[in-house]
Amino acid sequence: MSNRIDNLLHEARRFPPTEQFAADAIAGADLYEAAENDRLQFWADRARELLHWHTPFTRTLDWSNPPFAKWFDDGALNVAYNCLDRHVLAGNGDRIALHWEGEPGDSRSYTYSELTSEVKRAANLLTSLGIRQGDRVAIYLPMIPEAVISMLAVARIGAVHSVVFGGFSAESLRSRIDDASAKLVITADGGYRKGSVFPLKQAVDAALAADGESTVSHVLVVKRGGNEVEWTEGRDLWWHDEMVAVDDEHVAKAFPAENPLFILYTSGTTGKPKGILHTSGGYLTQTAFTHRSVFDLHAESDVYWCTADVGWITGHSYVVYGPLANGATQVLYEGTPDSPHPGRWWDIIQKYGVSIFYTAPTAIRSFMKAGRQIPQQFDLSSLRLLGSVGEPINPEAWIWYRDVIGGGETPIVDTWWQTETGAIMVSALPGVTTLKPGSAQVAIPGIQIEVLDDEGHDVGLDSGGLLVVSEPWPSMLRGIWGDPERYKETYWDKFGDKYFAGDGARRDRDGDLWLLGRVDDVMNVSGHRLSTAEIESALVSHPMVAEAAVVGAEDEATGQAVVAFVIVRASQADVATADEASALLRAHVAEQIGAIAKPRTVFLVAELPKTRSGKIMRRLLRDVAEGREVGDTTTLADTQVMQIITDRLK
Ligand code: WTA
Repeated sequence: MSNRIDNLLHEARRFPPTEQFAADAIAGADLYEAAENDRLQFWADRARELLHWHTPFTRTLDWSNPPFAKWFDDGALNVAYNCLDRHVLAGNGDRIALHWEGEPGDSRSYTYSELTSEVKRAANLLTSLGIRQGDRVAIYLPMIPEAVISMLAVARIGAVHSVVFGGFSAESLRSRIDDASAKLVITADGGYRKGSVFPLKQAVDAALAADGESTVSHVLVVKRGGNEVEWTEGRDLWWHDEMVAVDDEHVAKAFPAENPLFILYTSGTTGKPKGILHTSGGYLTQTAFTHRSVFDLHAESDVYWCTADVGWITGHSYVVYGPLANGATQVLYEGTPDSPHPGRWWDIIQKYGVSIFYTAPTAIRSFMKAGRQIPQQFDLSSLRLLGSVGEPINPEAWIWYRDVIGGGETPIVDTWWQTETGAIMVSALPGVTTLKPGSAQVAIPGIQIEVLDDEGHDVGLDSGGLLVVSEPWPSMLRGIWGDPERYKETYWDKFGDKYFAGDGARRDRDGDLWLLGRVDDVMNVSGHRLSTAEIESALVSHPMVAEAAVVGAEDEATGQAVVAFVIVRASQADVATADEASALLRAHVAEQIGAIAKPRTVFLVAELPKTRSGKIMRRLLRDVAEGREVGDTTTLADTQVMQIITDRLK
């Protein structure tokens, strides 16, 4: 690891902005100055400049009860109004908000006027179903316009959405519905993925059929896949039937700036996903600001495309809230990058003239592997800015991205942030920063980042430490749903009133940040966060498994891959061959959590390496998983264990 980092730190290529780009850029160096002079004033100015406040705020930050922050808290606004109505009122109603492209090739575009009407209708529909301010609504949809419409309709009436990624299992959906006591679920019959329809309604049925009283009174179903669905009379309603029955007039009411906007579940170090809570005014300020300045959005002329699913934070902040608050025209695509042909994404860029493109390193690496001849068949000359998010982008991938996709000219912004931070925290500003491949570079204006050692001292330049955000920021999480203690413990206990992000980082001699991966038991597989503990508990929920340990092993394609070590119960030891057992357990994890959590490899072992206090030494298992010589075993309770494991796996 440290060798690799040293190589990275010697990366010498530099890309300053062209004169033209700098001259036309939305964000200039003056933003850093303004933020340095008066950070709170800087954010207050952004909030006023970028949003419409029904009731202007007078207080910027209340940090009197850390770590519970309040931003702009005596102000009131409506998030959906900010994303829709005000653009129509400003005369931009005919501007396209969404160019939606379905995987099978169908497409629909919505102007800001049309999207506003749809959201107004949906807001009336939700109200007619009894949803009120503060109620939770679970959204389990494919990447179709109704996903965006649902989120904004929930926001419009001051309710709280909890979007669950469509790839998650019925079991994962159930635990999220229960944790938030959702009253309503919005889903679809199915959606398209890799050329066929995957069922969603079926998973909702399974999630709601489980024992115990459900808080869910209705399930709204969008017809998308056309697949057969079962129907529970009185509970299930077709979206299209209900939407025509309601009015498209709806006056947006203002809600306090700290009104909860959404809960989004993410993996932590324990088995139970955390419901990260975000609120309205601060969140929208920072998503709008970063979307505009980091992506240099010229709303009248740019066509923006972020490939993230709305089931992840990137989809919340940079598909829905940031771009729509800024009045952007964007592409929304339902399917996978390679359906029905490996150039589908590039085809879409060509078709809509996409100028700003935001995706993840894992996708870039897979395109690199498939070869440049695929993108080269398409006209990508409309692109003028590229972005990356989710994991470190290695310099080779960065250069390939710029050369092959960006025509050797476009700047690339590598953006570091998290579900918890709500919006981009570290990134270049493309008209200002000289770019350095592989480094996420600098804190955005108004954000304070430090790299500290375990005792909380600054590690200085050129040495590794822990990434910390040292001042509260507008789009910070406001807590973990229903668990304030866990919120404090996870993020704030380590450094007092500084936020501990869980990432390792290093600053080079220019002061640029290099992200070094997670320092906890969270893995990053294809840019998706997975918890070792969560997968371990899925594995041990199978009757065959006595004990399980999961590690993230380096993987060329996915960044990290899930590798599991499993002890099979003696009574079950010969029910299957090792290969069968391992296939069975991989499928079991997919069923319990979702396909993204499926281990790449399941090793059946007789023992697990543990310290005398019983803690599994994952470091040693990672050595095995990555095919390395096993490291220091002297702190093991039984020093022979690793020998037994490696012998068995030979
Ligand atoms: C990682 C995704 C390096 C990091 C927005 C973080 C990154 C976790 C980058 C959050 C980046 C995200 N460079 N690492 N540009 N962006 N990460 O919550 O480990 O799904 O803690 O949010 O992804 O993942 P999450």
